[in-house]
Parts: sequence; structure tokens; C-alpha cells
Amino acid sequence: MKKKQFLITEDGSHTLYLPDLDETYHSIHGAIQESNYVFIERGLNYFAEKENVEKLRIFEVGFGTGLNTLLSAIYAEKHQLFLQYESIEPFPLEKDEIQKLNYPIITDWLFSDDLFQNIHNSSWNEWIGISTYFQLRKVKAKIQDYEGSGMFDVCYFDAFAPSKQPEMWNSEILEKFFLLLNHKGIFVTYCAKGQLKRDLKSIGFEVETLPGPPGKMQMVRAIKP
Ligand SMILES: C[S@@+](CC[C@H](N)C(=O)[O-])C[C@H]1O[C@@H](n2cnc3c(N)ncnc32)[C@H](O)[C@@H]1O
Repeated sequence: MKKKQFLITEDGSHTLYLPDLDETYHSIHGAIQESNYVFIERGLNYFAEKENVEKLRIFEVGFGTGLNTLLSAIYAEKHQLFLQYESIEPFPLEKDEIQKLNYPIITDWLFSDDLFQNIHNSSWNEWIGISTYFQLRKVKAKIQDYEGSGMFDVCYFDAFAPSKQPEMWNSEILEKFFLLLNHKGIFVTYCAKGQLKRDLKSIGFEVETLPGPPGKMQMVRAIKP
């Protein structure tokens, strides 16, 4: 397996490039920008404002660099919203790769570095209190083998692109999200392929196509009625 490469994306934040898959972990148009737009604004913030809740539960596929996790933790602290966040990842990064990522220094929150270190130093497969408002459970497994039954309010689907990892985008996996979500729960992803939308609809989701982040035309948000 060839070594991962660090790239600087258009907003100055890092992403990783996997030569074997010819794929990056985030958009080259801006890793932080994309994560903030797709997952935080269109997912977490949308749900929190619509349902006016004081606590909520998020499920993410896959944990990767921990960027979505960090941005969600920052959101929780800023908004004083209790978040329980479960994230699944079969291929964790090495410690030296994590330490090189520039997210803690370019996110606009005084305690980003503490959050980022706590997120990455936390044990796998158990619930850990990361900060006042943020609890995390990182699950070291493939989504295909995941049998969790927690009821979640928001699912972030952040797999590699369907062209690179098609097995992640099949109906069997999409059905897991439907089962994991509460009534009115939402699923968000950066992808807006027609097949994905058709599959989500046939599973029972109400599907919305939204404008995408810079560099992408569209994204998808699906609601469990
Ligand atoms: C697009 S990257 C995720 C980026 C991540 N959300 C972040 O904030 O850095 C896709 C991730 O899915 C993980 N992955 C690959 N196969 C998987 C599987 N079968 N189940 C769960 N995650 C998987 C990869 O290792 C990678 O970390």
C-alpha cells in the first residue's frame, strides 16, 4: 500500500490523498468548507434548529481524519447543545498522520486543539466524555459489520465516492441508516447521484437535493418520515 499524501485544499485546510484508490478524504476545493457546509450546516444545524432540541445523537460513516467530529464538537460547545456522536472507521490513521493535520490551528475556536487531541486520544469502542457538551464513541469496524441499534437524529454519510468504493453505496448499507434513524431523523451526504436518490426513496426516505458546497453542484439530504 502506497503512503498517504498530505494536500492543502483551497481553504488552506489539509486533506489526505490515497494513491491506491486515487481518492482524497475531502473536497480539494476546501476540506473544512465542505465539512461545515454539508454535515454541520445542512445536517446538524438544520436538525437542531428545526426540532429545537437540547441534545441529539449523530452517527457517522467513516471517522477518517476526525474533521467532521471536531467541527461537530465545536458546534456542541458553541451552542451548548449536548451531542452524542458515534463514528465508525475500520482503518484508523497513524498517530504521526493525525499530528500533522492542521485542523486545530485553522478552526475558529479557542479550544480546538484540546478537542482534537481528546477526540483522537480517546479509546475505541467505548463512550468517552470529550468536553462539556460532547460525548464520543469511535467504533473500529466496517459499516457492513455494524450491528448497533442506537436511535440517531442525524447520520453523516462520508464514505469515499461511489466511483471509488461502490460497495459502500448499496441499498443494504443505506437501509442501515433508515433503521438507525429516529422518526424525523436526517441523513446527509456530499453525493447527489441519481441512483443514490432512487435507492433512498425506495427505502422510504423523503429525499431533497440541495445546492452543493463550492466545487460541487448538489448534495443530498434525506428525511425519515
Ligand atoms: C471520505 S473519508 C472520511 C472523511 C472523514 N469523515 C473526515 O472527517 O476526515 C472515508 C472514510 O471511510 C472509511 N471507510 C472505508 N471503508 C469503510 C467501511 N467499510 N466502513 C466504514 N468506513 C469505511 C475510510 O477509511 C475513510 O476514513
